[in-house]
Amino acid sequence: MRMRRKRHLDSRLERAQTRVIIRRDENPDSRVDTTGEYLDLVAVYGNGNPVSIEIGCGKGRWICAMAKAHPERNFLAVEQTSNVLISALEAAEEESLANVRFADCGAEYLLRHIAPNSLEAVYLNFSTPLPKQGYAKQRLTHERFLTLYARWLQGGGKLYLKTDNRDFFTFSVCSLSAFGCTIARLSVDLHKDDIPNITTEYEDKFAPLGPIYYVEAQFPEK
Ligand SMILES: C[S@@+](CC[C@H](N)C(=O)[O-])C[C@H]1O[C@@H](n2cnc3c(N)ncnc32)[C@H](O)[C@@H]1O
Repeated sequence: MRMRRKRHLDSRLERAQTRVIIRRDENPDSRVDTTGEYLDLVAVYGNGNPVSIEIGCGKGRWICAMAKAHPERNFLAVEQTSNVLISALEAAEEESLANVRFADCGAEYLLRHIAPNSLEAVYLNFSTPLPKQGYAKQRLTHERFLTLYARWLQGGGKLYLKTDNRDFFTFSVCSLSAFGCTIARLSVDLHKDDIPNITTEYEDKFAPLGPIYYVEAQFPEK
């Protein structure tokens, strides 16, 4: 089902533009092009605190809660659907969160903007599972994306993933292991285990229907 376009989307996006540090670029070449100018993250956030990225932030409740809980860290939220991103942008604005910025595009377009070894952690919260085999390459834990994360993460950097989809979880754990990551922590029922957790919108809606799977993976040292 197609989502109805939010009222006044363009003008609302325009008002929140100061928080958007990477803008939509549908040119397919930019997915493989590293000649773009990398962002100066110290200038963007006004400090040298570590930066973490969430890919597919949805309406942004999790990233805003994380940013509030960790003022000593910086966060970059990426969302490919502007119609959803606008809620996250407005939530960060409403709370005057100085340590959150946004990318208004798909993760595959970030290559030319994010410098190697510049991120502390990657968060994937309820990523679209894309169950059809033909879409495996689009999954955010496919080797294609793990290669990007390995490039961006500093040595010892981690990926944190939560999902309610068992098949996507299995695919992700296999993909991470095959890539050479160490599985540092894993849960097949996150809400029953003693693991610190800030829930997302999607999680609150779907947790009553079944377990939440969780994996924390350490990327290979460089
Ligand atoms: C199921 S929703 C989960 C949203 C939020 N993380 C939560 O847990 O409530 C998945 C989100 O990921 C976004 N998404 C999927 N693939 C993406 C990609 N390649 N780059 C950026 N965002 C993506 C979708 O637009 C959607 O908003």
